[in-house]
Amino acid sequence: MSHALLDVRGLSRRFGGLQAVRDLSFSVDEREIVALIGPNGAGKTTVFSLLSGFLAPDSGDMRLGGRSIVGRKPHEVCALGVARTFQIVRPFPKLTVLENVLIGALVRHPRRRDAEAHARAVLDEVGLAAKAAQPAGTLTLSERKRLELSRALATEPRLLLLDEVMAGLNTTEVERTLELVRAINARGIAVLLIEHVMRAVMSLASRIVVLNYGERIAEGRPDEIANDRRVIEAYLGEPDVDAAVP
Ligand SMILES: Nc1ncnc2c1ncn2[C@@H]1O[C@H](COP(=O)(O)OP(=O)(O)OP(=O)(O)O)[C@@H](O)[C@H]1O
Ligand SMILES: [Mg+2]
Repeated sequence: MSHALLDVRGLSRRFGGLQAVRDLSFSVDEREIVALIGPNGAGKTTVFSLLSGFLAPDSGDMRLGGRSIVGRKPHEVCALGVARTFQIVRPFPKLTVLENVLIGALVRHPRRRDAEAHARAVLDEVGLAAKAAQPAGTLTLSERKRLELSRALATEPRLLLLDEVMAGLNTTEVERTLELVRAINARGIAVLLIEHVMRAVMSLASRIVVLNYGERIAEGRPDEIANDRRVIEAYLGEPDVDAAVP
């Protein structure tokens, strides 16, 4: 485990009487794509909030490249190379698409001109270049999801945390996002992905971590997880998972 990019050990967080994340351990290697799946309320987004410094853990350790990130503020974790997208997309609606991405680009490029060039390159990569001058509020859901991804990508992370970037997209849009995530990963960026679209999870992830009531109930390759009795009972029980969950 010493070579893992991200190493999470015994992570726990409660909200009042609710244990949202319980003694969770997992790792993500350099250049790997790992999926975090589980039923609604399992604690997946809470794990992202802990990793990105938006929430503090009650106990446990989180290491990036061997260095603990416990107690770091969101901007510090971002500077160290972890970027997240939000499940509820929240661009600044009155700012243009370019300006929204520029905010992320300024993390590594303090000079506005450099930041803008980088932001434009990111918009090119995600296929939003033509919308650069539009207010973010005018975008479709699919475009807003890609803008959310662009904002994270613009901070030039080593580890990208994607929280349901495919939720609500149609088949074509999901396919396009799959290709985009593969391309981003091929550039050397590790990805930790929360996703209910099982087709996407199965085709992208080399490993899957399954959460239920804040606890890891399984971890393995996609083929192992698809046949795991506990996972089927807790999560994959419905014949059509894509239709059964939002
Ligand atoms: N800030 C908070 N304060 C109190 N309870 C919270 C808070 N954030 C999350 N919870 C609760 O913690 C549990 C885990 O929530 P979380 O959002 O992490 O689940 P999730 O696995 O991302 O679910 P979903 O698939 O619906 O997005 C839920 O019961 C939720 O209501
Ligand atoms: Mg969530």
